[in-house]
Amino acid sequence: MTEQSETAVLVSRPADFVLQVRINRPKAMNALNGAVLGGIAAALGDAVDDDSVRCVVLTGDERAFAAGADIKEMPTRTPATVLTDRRGADWHAVAGFPKPIVAAVNGYALGGGCELAMSCDIVVAGENAMFGQPEVNLGIIAGAGGTQRLVKAVGKSLAMKMLLASEFIDARTALAAGLVSDVVAPELTLERAVALAGTIASKAPLAVRLTKQAVLRSFDVSMAAGLDYERNCSAALFGTEDRLEGVTAFIEKRQADFKNR
Ligand code: CAA
Repeated sequence: MTEQSETAVLVSRPADFVLQVRINRPKAMNALNGAVLGGIAAALGDAVDDDSVRCVVLTGDERAFAAGADIKEMPTRTPATVLTDRRGADWHAVAGFPKPIVAAVNGYALGGGCELAMSCDIVVAGENAMFGQPEVNLGIIAGAGGTQRLVKAVGKSLAMKMLLASEFIDARTALAAGLVSDVVAPELTLERAVALAGTIASKAPLAVRLTKQAVLRSFDVSMAAGLDYERNCSAALFGTEDRLEGVTAFIEKRQADFKNR
């Protein structure tokens, strides 16, 4: 992680096996500049092979999860830099992260901020959260999954309204549409996200990992191919130590002690 990226995101351990990554540009509404994206990617990169991390919470502050890509970095960007700079890899580090990520969203999640939340696996929103894809105001389109993931998250008509008219939706609308899983008082958003992450971290890590993979695969393949994949994952897990531990713990009426094996 570079020095700049280190201050652009703050990394902490709020619970056992849980890594928290906080976007830290409050004066810029947590706009996603290169340092923030690089910082998130680096924190996740470090966590990939770290057995002490089983789930990640990604958050911002009370006013903004993230107000989008940093517009002030945009004047100098060209088609070539958009295609070739490291942002693509940084975004991939989030979407391709193999362990679950819970987004804790208060305030604005706009443009790349909404896309960042959608790249996570579960979104917990504060009642003050606002989601939007206002890129057409800037003469660009959503560039980190907004035209694809939003449609799948909220359906065509609402997605089109957000993408074409730049209308924001509030937390309750996002909940009704399926974009978020929980809506809580803003002061409880992070607490709820960390609690959820802690619960996920208490489950069998390999089963969690393959569940995430199988669910994400459902977006890309036919039902038949997805069911095949699920069956193969299921079969593979029957060969793990944690499967034996989980089943034995149930039968012995005790808490399972999973080892990620
Ligand atoms: N990039 C850079 N700076 C930003 C920013 C952004 N996306 N969003 C907010 N800021 C900065 C503002 O410039 C301002 O800085 P200064 O004090 O130095 O002027 C500071 O954050 C506070 O913002 P506002 O004064 O505008 O606060 P507000 O409460 O009046 O409005 C807001 C908040 C509705 C979020 C408004 O700032 C806004 O509309 N921001 C831009 C949202 C946007 O268009 N996002 C999409 C970006 S494009 C994108 O994300 C592409 C992609 O797909 C990856």
